[in-house]
Amino acid sequence: MHGGNASGSSSPADRRLSALVRHLEGSSRDGIDAGNHSIAAAPTSGSYGGRNSVFDHVVMGPEDPILGVTVAYNKDPSPVKMNLGVGAYRTEEGKPLVLNVVRRAEQMLVNDSSRVKEYLPIVGLADFNKLSAKLILGADSPAVQENRVTTVQCLSGTGSLRVGAEFLARHYHQHTILIPQPTWGNHPKVFGLAGLSVKTYRYYDPSTRGLDFEGLMEDLGSAPSGAIVLFHACAHNPTGVDPTAQQWEQIRQLARSKALLPFFDSAYQGFASGNLDTDAQSVRMFVKDGGECIVAQSFAKNMGLYGERVGALSIVCRNADVAGRVESQLKLVIRPMYSNPPIHGASIVATVLKDRNMFQEWTVELKAMADRIINMRTQLFDALRSRGTPGDWSHIIKQIGMFTFTGLNSKQVAFMTKEYHIYMTSDGRISMAGLSSRTVPHLADAIHAAVTRLA
Ligand SMILES: Cc1ncc(COP(=O)(O)O)c(C=O)c1O
Repeated sequence: MHGGNASGSSSPADRRLSALVRHLEGSSRDGIDAGNHSIAAAPTSGSYGGRNSVFDHVVMGPEDPILGVTVAYNKDPSPVKMNLGVGAYRTEEGKPLVLNVVRRAEQMLVNDSSRVKEYLPIVGLADFNKLSAKLILGADSPAVQENRVTTVQCLSGTGSLRVGAEFLARHYHQHTILIPQPTWGNHPKVFGLAGLSVKTYRYYDPSTRGLDFEGLMEDLGSAPSGAIVLFHACAHNPTGVDPTAQQWEQIRQLARSKALLPFFDSAYQGFASGNLDTDAQSVRMFVKDGGECIVAQSFAKNMGLYGERVGALSIVCRNADVAGRVESQLKLVIRPMYSNPPIHGASIVATVLKDRNMFQEWTVELKAMADRIINMRTQLFDALRSRGTPGDWSHIIKQIGMFTFTGLNSKQVAFMTKEYHIYMTSDGRISMAGLSSRTVPHLADAIHAAVTRLA
């Protein structure tokens, strides 16, 4: 394991405070004020010609490393520019997609005059919660039937992770969480700010551009007993590298033997293989053994509901009694944070999931999105091969999900942005969902030039 501090025997309040201090110390370098400037008292009225703001000491914060790519892209006037930074699906024409089934569900909701805009309960829409749990755990999951899963509607995947992390910081005995190295950039911040102590486990081997399975097993094997372990349920972001079913089984056995608590982040169910059940196998393996685990689900990608912020947090418990008590505490986490979640997006999801025909229609549209991404992988791989681009690019077709971790270094990325107006994160991750048959040749030209000129 690498990085982070083990949590001692301090109280949750102390740990939160020290996590906050650590965060502020770290982020003062990033331009968030750490409170060590002398903050002058200043009038809050406008009578001083716009000078002497009470916020004068606030320094400019950096752009988010992922969302900042879009900011830079938007400023580029080039007609050939391409944004492969943010993980949002685009059509062959490069346009955002609202699924037909989502439009249909929205129409039904609008036409239903009995619908009102009252607050949802703290835990969200009951139908949505039940259906979301079944979607990830399986329609016939014994854990759901035995009422030992508590599910709360949260603000997409991020909100679900954060509520889960806050709950664990308050109610779980072990505050160390191991996250894969690398992982989605928001993970360490979400868990650290909730008061957990973040460490990493080895995941990716740059030399094979595949899984570092030995490193992963070694690091989980030496984790403190009871530590929380974050797993990407499928389509690991940013690497596109997932364990095989056999490797998952070995991971499960090790995790259970060390009493590690699995926390699954499921942001891409159905998006990886095109099949909702296949992409949930890792989670279901851990539920089938009767043990406890946590799952954060997002409907951003698989239902294209990005801005609606629809997600769910499920905690699978040993029995219904524990699940009920856990839910009561989740409510105490949520209430002071945002009181209760928004109604519209969750109603769309519930409408689609509960109607057999609409569900079927969704799976077809979802598969079409996954297939288009898989097709882009093949096209890019073929384009590089036909150019004779040096290197083995087979990882492009082996990796899975929205992203390809190209192996391009930050200099090559900067070159491609400057010379070819192609935008991506500096770690060389490209969103395959942002590519089309029309733009593949331009990307292949850029990669070819980058690797031949800047080895
Ligand atoms: C691995 C992973 N987890 C969680 C999220 C959260 O997404 P959202 O909050 O939009 O559902 C993302 C989004 O990119 C992701 O890639």
